[in-house]
Amino acid sequence: MSLLAKRSIVKEDKSNIITLGAIAKEMKKKDPSVVNATIGMLYDEEGKLFVFDSVNEALNNLTDDEKFSYASTPGPDTYHEAIKHWVLREHYSSFMNVGVMATPGGSGAISNTFSNYLNPGDEVLLPNYMWGNYKQFAYENYASFRTYSLFDENNKFNLKDIYNQMVSLKNKQGRILLVINDPCQNPTGYTMSFDEWKSIINMINELSNDGTPVILLHDMAYIDYDKRGFKATRDKIALYKNLNSNAMAIMAFSGSKTMALYGIRVGAMIAVSNSEENILEFNKANKFSSRAKWSNTTNLGMNLITKVLTDDKLRNKFEEELELSRKTLIDRANMFIEKSNEVGLKTLPFDCGFFITIPCSNPNSVYQYLVDKKIHIIPMDNVIRVTISAISIKDCKKLPILIKEAIDYCK
Ligand SMILES: Cc1ncc(COP(=O)(O)O)c(C=O)c1O
Repeated sequence: MSLLAKRSIVKEDKSNIITLGAIAKEMKKKDPSVVNATIGMLYDEEGKLFVFDSVNEALNNLTDDEKFSYASTPGPDTYHEAIKHWVLREHYSSFMNVGVMATPGGSGAISNTFSNYLNPGDEVLLPNYMWGNYKQFAYENYASFRTYSLFDENNKFNLKDIYNQMVSLKNKQGRILLVINDPCQNPTGYTMSFDEWKSIINMINELSNDGTPVILLHDMAYIDYDKRGFKATRDKIALYKNLNSNAMAIMAFSGSKTMALYGIRVGAMIAVSNSEENILEFNKANKFSSRAKWSNTTNLGMNLITKVLTDDKLRNKFEEELELSRKTLIDRANMFIEKSNEVGLKTLPFDCGFFITIPCSNPNSVYQYLVDKKIHIIPMDNVIRVTISAISIKDCKKLPILIKEAIDYCK
């Protein structure tokens, strides 16, 4: 008989990204010609982890106290202010009610949102192509999930299905928690237009008008890699000012992605609402959950982010470096898409970001075929995901033809 509690017996980390990523890393260590297009981190053209000099400079100037002491559970006010300014930018002063809670990465923000805005057994609404960890956050927080089709039959963003699923969830459980990962959606790289974002806000207002709680979890892990830059991403956020008071947007900010602080584990949940009461409740419940799950977020991570964002010189340098990393990603993506078009390799709708996804009927065979050619990608349900953030432009040039070959061979 298992010693595990009943609902823990079925717990198994089915996400293959970390496992396959570790295999690829090991193979590359033995043979540098291996292409590792698995894990979502940014690497430079020489295959070294991309590190922001501005962030390193700030790190070298942190005091022992700033690095090693305990932080408070929500994190210091200075961190909250720095994050609010960064995420809201020119819209900062026009938001009345904003709550911030420090979390270990965007992951902590997602987990807390699932804990506090779903009743046991409720379903969270996820995209059908998704970062698989959402499912585990749901189970861990006594919830389950259903999916909306990200794209319709014409490969357009599927507002209609999101609306239908929201209505169905409203009728079933009297509350809605909708997850949208934008921009640079993982795994597709799709980025919603301003008008699509506006339609989402309208739907939320329509469905929450009668008092039904509707929460939008905006997973903005890749917000600073949108090829359109800061203004486009923050103009979408400004739309949250139009939400009615039964609705709230919670943004999951990732220090892992914005500042390449993957292993430091730092991020935040940022809630905006037209009701002050919603924010007070948010602060109270999420402080409790954070204390119960991880106690507090690293002072090192929070102070580092605060330093970079509040020192004018460091911040300017950081923004320049960010621009460079965005450009690197755009160049790689352009090359990959150009070569894919040349060989007739179809991708799911892609716009920008760390990943490009390719539909295929037997991803595991394609994975194996490519591994034999020293190429490591991630097989998922009916697609393979190629991490362009981790490979060079030269690799982006050669991969499409090999992937096309693999898909044709494994048909
Ligand atoms: C879509 C998406 N959301 C959230 C995260 C969370 O990242 P972290 O917890 O490291 O901030 C990731 C990480 O890969 C991701 O891809």
